[in-house]
Amino acid sequence: MQDVLIYGAGGFAREVAWLVECAAAKGGDLRVAGFLDDDPTHHGTSLNDIPVFGLDAATAAHGGAAMLIAVGNPGTRERLAARSAAAGFRFATVVHPSVEMSRWVELGEGTIICAGSTLTTNIRLGAHVHVNLDCTIGHDAVLEDFATLAPGVHVSGHVHIERGAYLGTGAVVINGEAGRPITIGAGAVVGAGAVVTRDVPPGVTVVGVPARAR
Ligand SMILES: CC(C)(COP(=O)(O)OP(=O)(O)OC[C@H]1O[C@@H](n2cnc3c(N)ncnc32)[C@H](O)[C@@H]1OP(=O)(O)O)[C@@H](O)C(=O)NCCC(=O)NCCS
Repeated sequence: MQDVLIYGAGGFAREVAWLVECAAAKGGDLRVAGFLDDDPTHHGTSLNDIPVFGLDAATAAHGGAAMLIAVGNPGTRERLAARSAAAGFRFATVVHPSVEMSRWVELGEGTIICAGSTLTTNIRLGAHVHVNLDCTIGHDAVLEDFATLAPGVHVSGHVHIERGAYLGTGAVVINGEAGRPITIGAGAVVGAGAVVTRDVPPGVTVVGVPARAR
């Protein structure tokens, strides 16, 4: 078994620990060695029977472990991934055993796909992408590094989600076309329940049906 550390100690981090346990029960080779928390008052404690470390102590005790960044905010995740890489960690990629996907799906390092999601075909996910519970991702979709789908997001075919964009719970993106994808710009935020029907510019927050800038 390969040890894995989970950077983060919030609700999603505990969910990722469960994901790793589910994968191990189905023959996966990862075992959670600890959570990492930047709050020193939590160091030396445990969370759901898993020890909590700071980065330095984790590096000393589990330097050979792989890392997963289990923080939903894309900007924070990017910062923690850079710190982890600088400390010498490499990253795991984890997929819950209930996920359905074809062999025509590429996943980057650090990417996490949660229970109940379906990814069809000719899909590319970059590094440190999060696909939370019960999402669907259609054909020819691209999710760049640090893109984030909250639970129940539906991404249709020919959609391009740029670096660090965040789609809230239950958001829907209608389909683009070959050579003319619907694009969610880098760092954009799509509010929970929004329906995206056209491109979203970088850095803009959109809400509602149809989604409009707030
Ligand atoms: C869109 C979002 C990012 C806006 O956050 P915010 O900037 O803090 O916005 P506020 O809560 O201050 O709300 C500002 C206004 O937008 C409205 N609003 C907020 N979110 C909305 C949404 N998803 N759809 C429609 N309107 C929304 C609020 O009702 C409020 O309207 P008002 O000014 O008429 O009262 C946030 O509400 C959201 O949807 N985040 C996604 C959360 C999520 O999915 N989490 C999953 C965790 S696993």
